[in-house]
Amino acid sequence: MTSTLTIRRPDDWHLHLRDGAMLRAVLPETARHFGRAIIMPNLVPPVVTGAQAAAYRDRILAALPEGSDFTPLMTLYLTEDSDPADVEAAHASGLIRAVKLYPAGATTNSASGVTNFDKVRPVLEKMAGIGLPLCVHGEVTDADIDIFDREAVFIDRILDPIRRSTPGLRVVMEHITTSDAVDYARSQGSDLGATITTHHLVINRNHILAGGIKPHYYCLPVAKREEHRLALRAAATSGEARFFLGTDSAPHTDANKLLPCGCAGCFTATNTMSILAQVFEEDSALGRLERFASLNGPAFYGLPPHDSTLTLEKKTPDYPAQISTDDGPVTVFDPGFPLTWRVA
Ligand code: NCD
Ligand code: ZN
Repeated sequence: MTSTLTIRRPDDWHLHLRDGAMLRAVLPETARHFGRAIIMPNLVPPVVTGAQAAAYRDRILAALPEGSDFTPLMTLYLTEDSDPADVEAAHASGLIRAVKLYPAGATTNSASGVTNFDKVRPVLEKMAGIGLPLCVHGEVTDADIDIFDREAVFIDRILDPIRRSTPGLRVVMEHITTSDAVDYARSQGSDLGATITTHHLVINRNHILAGGIKPHYYCLPVAKREEHRLALRAAATSGEARFFLGTDSAPHTDANKLLPCGCAGCFTATNTMSILAQVFEEDSALGRLERFASLNGPAFYGLPPHDSTLTLEKKTPDYPAQISTDDGPVTVFDPGFPLTWRVA
């Protein structure tokens, strides 16, 4: 039986670090295992301009533990007023690696997102021209579309039309949750990638709703039926280049999770690598974990994989159930089964 596994150092291609006290508390959890991460720009107010992204990057670097060589890969939050010239300059200087599209109202801090997709056409055309990827939160927001159908409807109504009308645009379908998204990603060329979170490989909608409501399993896009979880597992463990890890680790204080109208997000930075090793081992795919966590993402983003490595060993991991922050505790995602791999 395999007792250790060494892979290239992993990266996280979708991460929420927040700001201030929360940033200081959660950043070490990611920097401990990951070399780089695509940093989500949904702060309040959002990170819209190159100047705002540069200032946010400086705050992240200042919050890093002594001696850490973690690299934040910055993104801009696309609004209907985003300036194509500012986006181009932020990309040319090496500051940003992607632009994030939130349909207005789709998720946490998405109020400044896009309602009229025609208004962002000049930015998307600029991005296609310079090869800057668009990271997409793929859910429609229409009140008459069932929340469990919002991803599949987005693909048909918004994503596919945008991609057809913007040839050359590189797109990441983020945190996919359905077999519809897996099938669409597989039907397209190498200019389309898809991230998959840790928690969507583990939970289905029963985990949220059966036997009492579990706010810590509520995230967006919401977990779907078991058949969708199995499709995500098959995609992640396939080793196919288009699928890579984006944890969507999204910290909220317990006080904000456990409300009558609680926040969406699962905090998985701390135990993601332990959970992934377990998932890949269960699916007889440990040998493909490196592709999902360490190789496919850099290849999509045109970056080299790390020379350094991460070793996992077959031992019970030791981490707290909650991370303490000056804003209050943040609960670490509970996979619901004992973990048997830990980072050495
Ligand atoms: C994210 C957050 O809290 O910022 N929440 C979540 O449930 N994933 C936003 C997002 O990525 O949708
Ligand atoms: Zn997210």
